[in-house]
Amino acid sequence: MATVTINLPHHRYDVIIEPGALDRLGALARDLAPHDRCALFVDPGVMNLYGEQVRHALHDSAYKIATHVLTGGEAAKNLDTIREGYDVLLDARLERRSPVIALGGGVTGDATGFIAATYLRGVPFIQCPTTLLAMVDASVGGKTGVNVPQGKNLVGAFHQPVVVIVDPLTLQTLPPRELRCGLAECVKHAVIRDADLFEWTADNLPAIQAMQPDALVELLTRNIQIKADVVMKDEKESSVRAHLNLGHTFAHAIEATCGYGEILHGEAVSLGMLAATSLSVTRGLCDANVRTQLDSLLTRIGLPTTAALPDEATLLAAMRHDKKVADSRLRLVLPTAVGQVTIIDDADDAQLTAAWQTVRA
Ligand code: NAD
Ligand code: GLY
Repeated sequence: MATVTINLPHHRYDVIIEPGALDRLGALARDLAPHDRCALFVDPGVMNLYGEQVRHALHDSAYKIATHVLTGGEAAKNLDTIREGYDVLLDARLERRSPVIALGGGVTGDATGFIAATYLRGVPFIQCPTTLLAMVDASVGGKTGVNVPQGKNLVGAFHQPVVVIVDPLTLQTLPPRELRCGLAECVKHAVIRDADLFEWTADNLPAIQAMQPDALVELLTRNIQIKADVVMKDEKESSVRAHLNLGHTFAHAIEATCGYGEILHGEAVSLGMLAATSLSVTRGLCDANVRTQLDSLLTRIGLPTTAALPDEATLLAAMRHDKKVADSRLRLVLPTAVGQVTIIDDADDAQLTAAWQTVRA
């Protein structure tokens, strides 16, 4: 078992990384959010796999459970889902102290977290991520929210969980495409902070893809620690938390213009990191070798390095809708080496167009 603690000025919580940890959910919830009722919001695919296990764990700790199976997929991460969620909590008469639990990937966690952040102005929230992407990134750090037609994650709130329960055994059933998407966020963490982790990931890729328990626990713990360190320095993204957005302004433009769910988030991040690195090379901020190394690792993982994309004018317009615009200037995170990044806000359209062309199939 490993634990990563997130220590914030107003709140402290643990991320528990342990095979079989889901069986302890009831006991953990009782300690942290004691009440007689709770709500379980669960991804439809995950309900069939782990729903009963989790309901048993909660029953054993004497919770009355309002279970709600969400409509799955990125396309369902919208305000209709949030409205349905409020109805579930109101019908079950959940109170201020009743915990709301998310079981599933980042879509479930982001939407459920937003419901927990806003229902009765905020109730205790427990994250049980079941995708690699949600374990290493989405479940940690308190960002919650939904997409709107104008763009991704444009409506949301910061709401930190009371605990995050990471059970690596759930990764055994994760489709390989989803595992690859999680690895995209792991590569992102390595590129922004940790050259040694980049090398370790490349060396241990076969063990990770074979789901070797030790390799998985090390991958999870190192990545969650990076995310925790960044969040502890800058919870509300006024400085270094922005580094976690490496590739994301490009990625969000891909997701918004290609249709949510067509290209998965981690796949869009893979393309976005490459476009950002191309831009960095063009501007003389990093060596071309960094892009070659990144392309090579993403290719080995099986992530896309090029894709059929809309025209550049459409992509540039979508980028300008992204949250990461300050004073009308597009802020972009660019690698300067493996393990280091910088932020620029003066990329012109010609440079952005050239960067997009490097990831166009
Ligand atoms: P997802 O939640 O859509 O899950 C992907 C698929 O995996 C789903 O079909 C689900 O049914 C299936 N699944 C989940 N766990 C499974 C398991 N153990 N076994 C079998 N199938 C399983 O996608 P995701 O990649 O987890 O999350 C992407 C979302 O996360 C995006 O909306 C993105 O914006 C968000 N995100 C948020 C943050 C944040 O800080 N809040 C960070 C990164 C990404
Ligand atoms: N995934 C970006 C963040 O948590 O800030």
